[in-house]
Amino acid sequence: MKSRPFVFINAAMSADGKISTYERKQIRISSDADMKRVDELRAGADAIMVGIGTVLADNPGLTVRSGGKNPTRVVVDSMARTPMDAEVISRKDGPTIIAVSRSAPYERVEALREKAEIIIVGDKHVSLPELLGELKSRGINRLMVEGGATLNWGLICEGLVDEVYVYIGNMIIGGKDAPTLVDGAGFKEPIKLELLGVENMDEGILMKWRVR
Ligand SMILES: NC(=O)c1ccc[n+]([C@@H]2O[C@H](COP(=O)([O-])OP(=O)(O)OC[C@H]3O[C@@H](n4cnc5c(N)ncnc54)[C@H](OP(=O)(O)O)[C@@H]3O)[C@@H](O)[C@H]2O)c1
Repeated sequence: MKSRPFVFINAAMSADGKISTYERKQIRISSDADMKRVDELRAGADAIMVGIGTVLADNPGLTVRSGGKNPTRVVVDSMARTPMDAEVISRKDGPTIIAVSRSAPYERVEALREKAEIIIVGDKHVSLPELLGELKSRGINRLMVEGGATLNWGLICEGLVDEVYVYIGNMIIGGKDAPTLVDGAGFKEPIKLELLGVENMDEGILMKWRVR
């Protein structure tokens, strides 16, 4: 048995591969049908993970809008920078785990502990393989990753992603500094994908890939 959950990335990007603007401002790329699909994916996941960059830029709640039980929310936040009023640690919306590194300031970690479970993994940065092992041991078998660009990179780099689902919306965002689906330093050798399916959805396309 795998010592980590099944991991899939879900994202919406523009026709030119951007996931937000050069100002890192959240922008609606998904169509109504895609929003519904994302909600169903969330409802079927044990946990939803985001990077601290996404929390600071978008302040997402990561809840299931159609009702029912909310999955556990997981924030990857090496220095415990999650704001105390972030939507993702609002207790009424279900449990949250904040993964921090051993370099996170003690007071910040203790303050966040009031609102969320804290997992400490990695020295300077959160160790993603260790974190996934911890999540698995807590019964999280199906993990949905909702970005952003740097976390997607970190997970793919470590070989921790099984599938990638991308909705390509009918727009061009542009900007060399706008985040793309996967940022980071880039790969010398591309990561190969196997196409699982393509679907027209409203005025965009949904693509599903398996990471080889
Ligand atoms: N269209 C979409 O589907 C979608 C979805 C989500 C986000 N977004 C957009 O994406 C942008 C945010 O992306 P982002 O790249 O700035 O932030 P991000 O990927 O959400 O978070 C990245 C941060 O995670 C932390 N981290 C800790 N350990 C890590 C590790 N091992 N590997 C990688 N990251 C690690 C790092 O900060 P520390 O060192 O402080 O821990 C890193 O800077 C926003 O503009 C948002 O709107 C779009």
